[in-house]
Amino acid sequence: MSVFTDYEAICMDLSAMTEDVPYKGANLANTAAYLYQSMEDLNWAGFYVREGDDLVLSYFQGKPACVHIPCGAGVCGTCLKEDRTLIVPDVHEFSGHIACDSASESEITVPIHDRDGKVVMILDIDSPHKNRFSEEDGKGLENVGRVIEAFLNRE
Ligand code: SME
Repeated sequence: MSVFTDYEAICMDLSAMTEDVPYKGANLANTAAYLYQSMEDLNWAGFYVREGDDLVLSYFQGKPACVHIPCGAGVCGTCLKEDRTLIVPDVHEFSGHIACDSASESEITVPIHDRDGKVVMILDIDSPHKNRFSEEDGKGLENVGRVIEAFLNRE
């Protein structure tokens, strides 16, 4: 299924929402909530934060999810290891996929970087429909990632 999402508007709104807010946690929480509300056909949207070489659950919207994901495990751990956006059209076809909500059918993950280019967290979004995320979603969410990096990395 193909869904149009206006990422330009989302990026503008998120920039405006976060630009005068010095609290990173508040900005991440509002970003997860805003994405979950403004994108269609989702059942989970949020962040896994790097702790050492692994990932730990952070701010999100959706059902409770697994807390710890080792580097290289599942979609999020692979995104961390390979430092690239992953579009998974059918999670059942992804070797090692970690099922937190059995409703999830497709997934997209985007790495978020610090000032030195190191991956510090993963933006993870799940849908209850197969093939929910296109290359356009990948590009759009990478732009959302730049907004997130702007509020995480500013002085
Ligand atoms: N499916 C993810 C785990 C996190 S949940 O989707 C919220 C993975 O395979 O890494």
